[in-house]
Amino acid sequence: MKERMKDLRESSIKAIVECDSAELLEALRVKYLGKKGELTGILRQMGSLSAEERPAMGQLANQLRSEIEQAIDERRAELTSKMMEMKLEREAVDVTLPGEEVRLGHKHPMYNVLDQIKDIFIGMGFEIVEGPEVELAEYNFTKLNIEDSHPSRDWTDTFYFTEDGKILLRTQTSPMQVHAMETKTLPIRMIAPGRVYRKDEVDATHSPMFHQIEGMVIDKGVTMADLKATLNLVVEKIYGKGTVTRFRPHHFPFTEPSCELDIQCHKCGGKGCPTCKGEGWIEVLGAGMVHPKVLSGCGIDPDEYSGWAFGMGLERLAMGEYKITDLRLIFENDVRFLEQF
Ligand code: PHE
Repeated sequence: MKERMKDLRESSIKAIVECDSAELLEALRVKYLGKKGELTGILRQMGSLSAEERPAMGQLANQLRSEIEQAIDERRAELTSKMMEMKLEREAVDVTLPGEEVRLGHKHPMYNVLDQIKDIFIGMGFEIVEGPEVELAEYNFTKLNIEDSHPSRDWTDTFYFTEDGKILLRTQTSPMQVHAMETKTLPIRMIAPGRVYRKDEVDATHSPMFHQIEGMVIDKGVTMADLKATLNLVVEKIYGKGTVTRFRPHHFPFTEPSCELDIQCHKCGGKGCPTCKGEGWIEVLGAGMVHPKVLSGCGIDPDEYSGWAFGMGLERLAMGEYKITDLRLIFENDVRFLEQF
């Protein structure tokens, strides 16, 4: 029996040391120490020993078991670190190779201008609201006092969804005036930027989709002086201190009186140049005092409250600021154009 154990010690330790994979090592463990393993086989024969021999043999067998276990543990540790080394070698990264460029995008130039405008108005206590681009004709026209015969209602000017002409792509952001008056508590100070749609052919200054920023103030005792002072301030923040403005009488069905705001050309100082097309002035926005009919149509008493509103084109503003000469560049998403900003 002693002999068998000696043989087992030699053969098992040799096999374990030479074994070169974790799976094989496990198979060896089962082969030597498992329930049907070789050591167990030897122990089964203990019964045939005399009572004097048994303890010594038992001790030897236990010693052999722990020797084999230790050999397996050591080999397992060796194999694990060897595997790790091989893995590291396989997955090694050459840190001296040039890196791959991470291409970060940036904000579209028009949205830079929009953010600038938002900041200006937020600084004056205005809130920013958004509304539907698919609008009811009632909000886009009727509630804004735009009569049935008005040319902007024409099928050739407006994208209608339904035969009855009740649903359309909004042609202006002014319906946001009505939404704000109907849903907000007074007083109101808001701007509403967003897309608007008109059946225009695409050229250097026209697009069937463009952006407007609507603005409106409703409170007690609001006058045209507030409109002029506020818009003059906004213009100075956009175009610089001392920018000369001109309020020109105009007509909008939903404001009375109405005006358009021009700035004196910042390029030529009013003498006339290509930027202002020789005019000396550049049109910036339309504005006016909210029409009493529009107020009362939204449930606001025009004897108690008054307000002013404006609407301006965002593309034109961005084109002026970044000296962009063709509107199409703003929408075409040509990276050669966009990367310049
Ligand atoms: N909605 C008008 C337009 O599209 C602009 C405007 C807005 C005028 C608000 C007056 C008041 O031209």
